Amino acid sequence: MKLKNNTILITGGTSGFGLEFAKRLLELGNTVIVTGRDPIKLASAKKNLAGLHIFQSDVSNPEEIANLYKTVIAQFPKLNVLINNAGQMRKISLHDSSIGLLDITREIETNLMGPIRMVQAFIPHLKQIPSAAILNVTSGLALVPFPISPIYGATKSGLRSYTKSLRVQLKNTRIKVFELIAPAAKTPLNDEFRNLDGYNVKQMNPVELVDIAFNGMEKDKYEIYPGVARVLYFMSRIAPGFMLRTLSKAGSKEMAG
Ligand SMILES: NC(=O)c1ccc[n+]([C@@H]2O[C@H](COP(=O)([O-])OP(=O)(O)OC[C@H]3O[C@@H](n4cnc5c(N)ncnc54)[C@H](OP(=O)(O)O)[C@@H]3O)[C@@H](O)[C@H]2O)c1
Repeated sequence: MKLKNNTILITGGTSGFGLEFAKRLLELGNTVIVTGRDPIKLASAKKNLAGLHIFQSDVSNPEEIANLYKTVIAQFPKLNVLINNAGQMRKISLHDSSIGLLDITREIETNLMGPIRMVQAFIPHLKQIPSAAILNVTSGLALVPFPISPIYGATKSGLRSYTKSLRVQLKNTRIKVFELIAPAAKTPLNDEFRNLDGYNVKQMNPVELVDIAFNGMEKDKYEIYPGVARVLYFMSRIAPGFMLRTLSKAGSKEMAG
């Protein structure tokens, strides 16, 4: 696909990958719209990136998605690319009985139900556009569980499975379906993991990640594995038990109960 002259909606575009995507896509001459929950982060992104359009919208809330769809399509009828990037990752001990039944699934609502609902809302519009694309941001942790983040891994495996089905179901449309299997990177999402016992992972710079994502999208590579994600892909097939044992070392004390 071409990365110029598109109208692109990025969920969670106020920090990390989403902000870097927005910056670079604006530089390439695209119209870029980002969402997020925090109005201060949205205002700061708009101030720093000339031409950026912002909408406050929580991807875990179906009503907010429906409103976002109506407002964005009314203002940007040429919208042709959806990047499902918003995500959260928590360190969770399953021994912790203070975590409530609603709270335990919070990441599922944002990371899995959010993109599924966004796609459901935007597909009828995207199908009418001559050249359209959806990029779902999954993770190397879709390939191998990271036991200290048990819900996160489940959401990313779920999103990966859904993305494969989506690609098959859209094969007779003009919508291209991409998956970015992102490796650990230097973004705020990783803040609470940096000092975790047994966590010894090289973190990619988001600039490099976006370079690789763009290269893959321009070549119509539908599954893009930057850096260590490629290694995880092969290792998860050759030695899944070894990979699980390796990733189980992070936070092993906190998970001991
Ligand atoms: N960083 C990594 O190591 C890594 C590795 C693999 C995959 N990923 C994936 O990459 C994506 C981006 O992560 P990141 O590292 O760039 O994280 P980040 O810097 O924490 O950014 C997350 C973005 O999502 C927004 N967001 C969070 N919950 C939201 C919600 N319910 N509705 C709307 N927006 C929401 C945040 O803004 P608000 O808080 O204001 O809403 C923020 O703009 C995520 O899907 C993540 O799972 C990251």
